[in-house]
Amino acid sequence: MTHWEDFYNTHLPPTDFEDNRSLLKEFCERHNKLQNRIVLVTSGGTTVPLEHNTVRFVDNFSAGTRGSASAEYFLDHDYAVIFMYRVKSLEPFTRHLTGQQFFDMLDITDNGQSTSITVKPDSVDVFAPILAKYKQARESQMILYVNFNTVADYLWLLRAACECLAAFEERALLYLAAAVSDFYVPQDMMPTHKIQSGQGAPTISLQLVPKMLAPLASLWVPHAFVVSFKLETDENLLITKARDSLFKYNHKMVIANILQTRKHRVVFVSPTMSYEVHLSREQALQGLEIEEPIVADLVKRHSEYINGASTNRQ
Ligand code: PMT
Repeated sequence: MTHWEDFYNTHLPPTDFEDNRSLLKEFCERHNKLQNRIVLVTSGGTTVPLEHNTVRFVDNFSAGTRGSASAEYFLDHDYAVIFMYRVKSLEPFTRHLTGQQFFDMLDITDNGQSTSITVKPDSVDVFAPILAKYKQARESQMILYVNFNTVADYLWLLRAACECLAAFEERALLYLAAAVSDFYVPQDMMPTHKIQSGQGAPTISLQLVPKMLAPLASLWVPHAFVVSFKLETDENLLITKARDSLFKYNHKMVIANILQTRKHRVVFVSPTMSYEVHLSREQALQGLEIEEPIVADLVKRHSEYINGASTNRQ
C-alpha cells in the first residue's frame, strides 16, 4: 500500500484546489471566531480514473443520501457545515426535488406579451419549508459546499479541510459518510489516452489506497470528535470490522451499516458500547429519515465529549 505521505508526494492536487482551500480557510476562521461548533460531512462515492484523459473510471453505489440528509439535520442543531460531496451526488435541500419532480411543481403561463412561472398551489406546502431552510442556511453562511470527483481529489480536500478544522479542537465533528474507494490506479501507472479495445482486453492492476483515517485521527485533528462509517454486505463481519477500525485508528465512533438495510438500520459502535438505531416500518412510511436520530444522537455524544474535555482541563 502507498504510505499516506507518499500519496501526496506522488499525486497532483486537483486544478481548483487552491480556490477550495481559500474557501475552507475563510469559512473556518469565521466560525471559529464565533465559537461555533462545526461538522465536516463527506458524502457520495469517489471515482477511480483508468486513464489521465479520463474516458473510463471505476465507481461505486453511493448516492449521497446519508451525507446530504445529515447535513440538513446538523444545520437544525446550529452546526456550521462543510459539505464535501461528489459532483452530481445528492445535495442538501435540492435532494428533495430531483428529476421531473421539480418541473411538475411549476406552472407556466404565456399571455402573448409575457411569460410567467409559478409554483402550483398544492406544491407550495412542500416547496416553501425546503426553500426557507435553504435560504436561511445560505444567507447566514452556515454551509459551505466543496466538491470532488476522483479519490485523489477527495484525499487532497480532506487534508485541507482538516488543516482548517484543527483550530476548533473538540468543537469539530468529522462525519465521514463518503464511500471512499479502497483501490485505485496510481497516476504514474495510468495511460495518458483512452485504452484501445483493438489491443485486446486490458489487465488493470489496482493498488490499495492508504487509509487516511490513520493520519486524520492521530495527527491532523487529534482533538476532534471523529465518526467514521463502516459499510459491509455480510452481517457476520459488520460489528467485528467496526470494532477493528475503532481500535486501529483510535477515533470516537464507528457507525456500521449493511448495504441493503442502510436506510432503516445502523449500529453505533464506540470503544465502550454498541447500540442500534433503527426506523420502524410506520416511521419510514411517515417519511421519517434515519439520519434525523443518527444526528441527534451524535450531537448529544459530541456535547458530552466537549464537556468532558473542558472538565479535564480545569
Ligand atoms: O450515500 P448513500 O447511498 O446514502 O450510502 C451511505 C453509505 C452506505 C455510503 C454510508 O452510510 C457509509 O457507510 N459510508 C462509508 C462507506 C465506506 O467506504 O466504508 P469503508 O469500510 O470502505 O471505509 C470506512 C471508513 O474509512 C470510512 O469512513 C472512510 O471515510 C474511511 N476511509 C476509507 C478508505 C480510505 N482509503 N481511507 C479512509 O479513511
